[in-house]
Amino acid sequence: MAARVVIESTTKDNAVPDKTPTPDERLQNEFNRWASEGEGEKMERHHLDITEKTIRLMDLRPGERVLDLGCGAGWATRLLARLAADGPEGFGQVVGLDVSDEMIRRARAATKDFDNVLYVWGSAQQIPWEENFFDKVLSVESFYYYPDQDRALAELFRVMAPQGRLFILINLYRDNPYSLQWVDKLKVPVHVRSQAEYVELLRRHAFEKVEARQIPDDTPTPDDYQTTSFHSLEDLRAFKRIGALLLMASKPNLRNPAPGYAIY
Ligand SMILES: C[S@@+](CC[C@H](N)C(=O)[O-])C[C@H]1O[C@@H](n2cnc3c(N)ncnc32)[C@H](O)[C@@H]1O
Repeated sequence: MAARVVIESTTKDNAVPDKTPTPDERLQNEFNRWASEGEGEKMERHHLDITEKTIRLMDLRPGERVLDLGCGAGWATRLLARLAADGPEGFGQVVGLDVSDEMIRRARAATKDFDNVLYVWGSAQQIPWEENFFDKVLSVESFYYYPDQDRALAELFRVMAPQGRLFILINLYRDNPYSLQWVDKLKVPVHVRSQAEYVELLRRHAFEKVEARQIPDDTPTPDDYQTTSFHSLEDLRAFKRIGALLLMASKPNLRNPAPGYAIY
């Protein structure tokens, strides 16, 4: 006689589905708002100086595969794409990834003339890409928002090529005390770590050649500049003088196995 299987429903008919947004959905909502207010494009003005200095250190070669993690409106992705374009080593590809679909939409609209850029909507917590792919990764002003930085680093390690290089640029960190002035103004939670803590975090994830340095922002601040993020123009100038934290690291010369293969 066939056994009777009773399947019990785990949801009651009148149960209200849980609408609490996940941490990624909160980020998506908040940065979609930024995007619709035009903040994505405005960030180019605020981050260009420190990003150009970082891109110089990235030593990009034609043919390389590059990830711009938390690409926003895509202006830095386009800078990378020009440098990694066609070359003797092959066809360079740049991927811009962002958790805000509205940022991705705007980035795509502004990048029509490029044939080596792909913008992808997704999260640093689960990078929708294959193992061992990217030669270089840039992330500008995005890393301290990631709900689980350990998971994001594990994902970066997975998708980076053997000996791939990682460049994380962040303005909000403990050793620049002026940056702490805008923590309370942000509508999503952020991590506030020190340079030493970040270095330790990268080492714990088996990254090699971990290095940190400060990248001052040399753009002048006009006397009539209106700041809502800082208590005063003097504080803003002091913040720029100390500068952003640049974290640099390499993946060791090893390949991550593709999923589904167990190594014994
Ligand atoms: C301050 S903006 C910087 C954008 C861009 N890099 C720039 O400099 O203009 C931070 C960006 O990180 C993205 N972001 C935040 N959390 C993310 C996550 N978990 N995964 C991917 N992107 C994320 C946001 O959507 C936003 O576009």
